[in-house]
Amino acid sequence: MSIRHVFVIGAGTMGNGIAQVAATSGYQATCMDVQSTALEKAKAAIARSTTKLLEKGMIDAEQKASADAIQFVPNMNAMKDADLVIEAATENPEVKLKIFKDMDASAREGVILASNTSSISITKIAAATNRPDRVIGMHFMNPVPLMKLVEVIRGLGTSDETAKTVADICKVMGKEPVEANDSPGFISNRILCPMINEAVFALQEGVGTPEAIDQVMKLGMNHPMGPLELADLIGLDVVLFILEVLQRDLGEDKYRPAYLLRKMVDAGHLGKKAGRGFYSYQ
Ligand code: CAA
Repeated sequence: MSIRHVFVIGAGTMGNGIAQVAATSGYQATCMDVQSTALEKAKAAIARSTTKLLEKGMIDAEQKASADAIQFVPNMNAMKDADLVIEAATENPEVKLKIFKDMDASAREGVILASNTSSISITKIAAATNRPDRVIGMHFMNPVPLMKLVEVIRGLGTSDETAKTVADICKVMGKEPVEANDSPGFISNRILCPMINEAVFALQEGVGTPEAIDQVMKLGMNHPMGPLELADLIGLDVVLFILEVLQRDLGEDKYRPAYLLRKMVDAGHLGKKAGRGFYSYQ
């Protein structure tokens, strides 16, 4: 099936980034969210991002016009015309399984249903549909317009054809697909989240200030951002959720979340999106 129309579910940071990249890569893009405020914010975020990318010569005027033409919709009606559906809704297993059931009912037969989940089993998501061979993980990284990686996760029943089609789409989007098997946290978060967790343990034990911990990893290990700064970017609630998945599904206490992380989530200090995390963004 040739891919023309990409339908993205979820207008949050990841969803709007994916819709933007799909549009600037030549696909017709639709972004859906049930919350109208989320759609408005997504539209503004895409306008800001593409204006900046245009100024820097990273996209041209035609690509900017394609991003400006993204459709923002409150329901799945337009999904019947979609050739690929990418789900980037909230990281809640019950919500995702329900969305995949609805996607399966709304999308045409043969259409690939992808999830941007960072930790929920693709095999489990696929089992909520009648097309497990056409369900796959497309795990984009934040900020989507700038990051090269898409982790492509095959569920137990994902077909070779689906994996190949999705890898080709990633390349059209200017991304580098890397295949991972369906295992808790896949490759990216199996490695990244324990590192962030260790940085939070170091902070809670007074080994260093947030600035010192981040500087050591930036200046000493050439990481573009320190682990605490990165946790603020990802969202502390997301990091906590992923660590809980790793601890539960791999059955290893080495993944137990630092209590400071839990405390900050309880306090609503969720990082950049909340204006406060390990750093203040007022
Ligand atoms: N669109 C357009 N421009 C953007 C942007 C976006 N979405 N996001 C940031 N920028 C711009 C900034 O506004 C800034 O522009 P100016 O220079 O004009 O101010 C520029 O990009 C960033 O430039 P900087 O020199 O400040 O920063 P940088 O060169 O370090 O690059 C970065 C920024 C690419 C985010 C880099 O810091 C980086 O790679 N950080 C690590 C990000 C990372 O690890 N992401 C993965 C998180 S994990 C995940 O997403 C998955 C999961 O499941 C948890």
